[in-house]
Amino acid sequence: MIYLDNAATTFPKPVSVRSAVEECMSEWCANPGRSGHRMAMRSAESVYRARLEIADLIGAEADEIVFTQNCTGALNLALHGVLKPGDHVVTTMMEHNSVLRTLNSLRRYGVETTVIRCGKDGTLQAESVRAACRNNTRMIVCTMASNVTGTILPVEEIGKIASERKILFLMDGSQGLGVLEADVDSMGIDLLAASGHKSLMGPQGTGFLYIRRGTPVSPVTEGGTGSESGSIIQPKTVPEGMESGTLNVPGITGLAEGIRFVKRTGLNQIRKREEKLIEYLSSLIRESRDISENILSYGPGETDKKVGIFSFNIRGMNSERAADLLDRRYGIAVRAGFHCAPFAHRAIGTEDGGCVRISVSMFNTERDMYDTAEAIRDIIRIRKRDPDDVECSGSRNDKSE
Ligand code: ALA
Repeated sequence: MIYLDNAATTFPKPVSVRSAVEECMSEWCANPGRSGHRMAMRSAESVYRARLEIADLIGAEADEIVFTQNCTGALNLALHGVLKPGDHVVTTMMEHNSVLRTLNSLRRYGVETTVIRCGKDGTLQAESVRAACRNNTRMIVCTMASNVTGTILPVEEIGKIASERKILFLMDGSQGLGVLEADVDSMGIDLLAASGHKSLMGPQGTGFLYIRRGTPVSPVTEGGTGSESGSIIQPKTVPEGMESGTLNVPGITGLAEGIRFVKRTGLNQIRKREEKLIEYLSSLIRESRDISENILSYGPGETDKKVGIFSFNIRGMNSERAADLLDRRYGIAVRAGFHCAPFAHRAIGTEDGGCVRISVSMFNTERDMYDTAEAIRDIIRIRKRDPDDVECSGSRNDKSE
């Protein structure tokens, strides 16, 4: 399989991540912050080290990091935990449903939202965010990069606007963290939600929310925290008051190792590698008339304006069908459809059928890009010659058509 669905979750994970999870589960995985025995203490230490790794990555303090199940959990905590009736939120068309659906539900409680229009390549003018702010704007929510087109959003400028207006800035780092630099102080970020299992290379079931000290957040999940256990009142302390229930110690241990891997490799190196792969794929497509005349591509043309994503459609072919063919006939894993980001598809003009998304990690190779371009060429060729053939799916090994 050529795995090009890294924006959904990265695969493979570094060997050190897999080993750390294995060692944790084989040797010392107990319940952190509950019991006082050595295994529980070892588990608590591992969780603390993971907080330190994350804090170091984003310029925060360890006790400002709350572990969640994923980025969706982190965004839900930030939105449900902060917003009150009468609050106004400014967000963008490039957001994921973990923001859009949550804000839509919050309308019921009197939270209003303005969604800023984005360009056809997914770009956003930071000044339009300023123009949308009102006296009751409590929060600006913006993704670091689009999960559909990879477009990098102007989060630094937005952070400045938020700081000037004394509005909370919540950044969704799910598609950028681990590839792009993030520093919560210089970027004016008050809340940063992230996935652990994408570019941070951790296992699935991991994510976190950075909460700037002093930001008033109420817990959205209540229960055991391992602290103030004699009381039935939920503590509101960060992080433990926000982390009720047993933590995912193997996942968090793996996430810490993933972040160590990213730091060892170097963000710049990872970014350069991903840019190089996407540039190579784009050039193969651009330079072949057979392909370029038969596809529509989305997002910025310049690779430095996006993270490692190439989104496209084969003219006249449903995106799900194209992805199915890439999987079954050529063993290439991509994601098609709407990518849980419906407004992003409105922005780029693919609201009818979505698009095919190729997303790389640093573990992909030039050969993967070459084989993918050839597979797209082949699908276009077969479709022209025998449209019925590609309208029904073949078997995975059926490369001879
Ligand atoms: N949000 C993830 C994606 O874009 C799952 O595929």
